[in-house]
Amino acid sequence: MAKRQPLVAGNWKMHGSRAENATLVNGLLDLLQPGKRAEILVCPPFPYLLETGRLLRDGGVALGAQSVCAEVQGAFTGEVSAAMLRDVGCTYVLVGHSERRHVFGESDELVARKFVAAQSQKIVPVLCVGETLDEREAGRTLDVVSRQIDAVMTVTGVKSLARAVIAYEPVWAIGTGRTASGDQAQEVHAMIRAKIAALDATIGGSVRILYGGSVKASNARELFAMPDIDGGLVGGASLKADEFARICAGAG
Ligand code: PGA
Repeated sequence: MAKRQPLVAGNWKMHGSRAENATLVNGLLDLLQPGKRAEILVCPPFPYLLETGRLLRDGGVALGAQSVCAEVQGAFTGEVSAAMLRDVGCTYVLVGHSERRHVFGESDELVARKFVAAQSQKIVPVLCVGETLDEREAGRTLDVVSRQIDAVMTVTGVKSLARAVIAYEPVWAIGTGRTASGDQAQEVHAMIRAKIAALDATIGGSVRILYGGSVKASNARELFAMPDIDGGLVGGASLKADEFARICAGAG
C-alpha cells in the first residue's frame, strides 16, 4: 500500500488579529519538532494570508486559504480568486467546508467548481465532506458523503484526486466538543477510500483523508492511529500554539 504523509491543517476560521496571529505562528514555529513526519498547514482569514506567509517563512509550515471563488476574475465583488491565493503564497485551499455549505448555502455543484478553480492554479483543494446529525441518525452518512464526493468526481474525474486532499468532518462534531470515535471515523474513511479505489486503485491508496471535528491533543492520537485517517483538519484547537503543536506531534 502507498505510504501517505500525514497532514495536520489548522482552520483559523474568522478568528485572529495581526498581533494574535504573530503570537500564534511564532509560538508554533518554536514548538514544532523538526523532522517530524507530518506536513503542517495553517489557513488564516484572507486579509492575513500575506503576512502569515511572511511569518511562516521557511519554517516548514504551508499556507492555505479557507475558501476560493469559482470564477477566474472579473466583476465578483467580495470574492477572491485562485490566482490571487497563488500570488500570496497559498498552496492549499479548503473547499466545501460545512460552514460554507450550511451557513452560506454552497451547493455540491459550486464546491466542484471551486475545486476546479483551485487546481487550475496548482493549489491543492482540501475537499470537506460530512453528514449532519439528522442524516447520521437516519442512517444516511455514507450516502451523503458519497454524493458530495461524486459531485466533484463527475466534473473532474477520479484522477484529479491525485492532487487533492479529502477531509471527513461530521457536521455534528464541528465546534461541539463531540468528536467521532476512532471507529466511527474509520468506518467512513474506509468507505471513502474503497469508493475511490474502485475507480482507481493507485489513487485510492494514496489520497490523504483527514478527520475533522473537535480534534484536540487528547483525542488526536487515537484518531490518527486509525489505518485510513491521515491527519486532521483542526478548528478551535489550532488557535493555541501548544495544543496545535501537540496535535501535530500526534500525527508524526
Ligand atoms: P473544530 O472545527 O475543530 O473547532 O471542531 C473543525 C473544522 O471546522 O474544520
